[in-house]
Amino acid sequence: MIGNLNHVAIAVPDLDAATCQYRDRLGARVSQPQALPEHGVTVVFVELGNTKVELLEALGDNSPIASFLEKNPAGGMHHICYEVQDIQSARDRLVSSGARVLGDGKPKIGAHGKPVLFLHPKDFCGTLVELEQI
Ligand code: CO
Repeated sequence: MIGNLNHVAIAVPDLDAATCQYRDRLGARVSQPQALPEHGVTVVFVELGNTKVELLEALGDNSPIASFLEKNPAGGMHHICYEVQDIQSARDRLVSSGARVLGDGKPKIGAHGKPVLFLHPKDFCGTLVELEQI
């Protein structure tokens, strides 16, 4: 059901500093920051040949990454995103298998303008999983 790895997301305390690390020290191509208020984050994408790294900074008071950054003040790997062809059928299949979809269970529009949803980390090897319909 899952296809390619779309991105690995790293939560960071300072997006400008993280952008400098990737652009200036690692020599990567990094996108302009994009504020996503409905997701409570500001993101940049590090464009790699075969996939992307998403750097996430908290935005607003109720950011879903705030408690993660409290536990990981230097930042850390936050989630992994796999592509699916049909997010509704993927969601239905996962829910019927007992997996938990976060939030209201409905896909939201993500940073690429495509529907995304998140799966509970306890159901997937301790890793928060994002599914994105391509
Ligand atoms: Co993501």
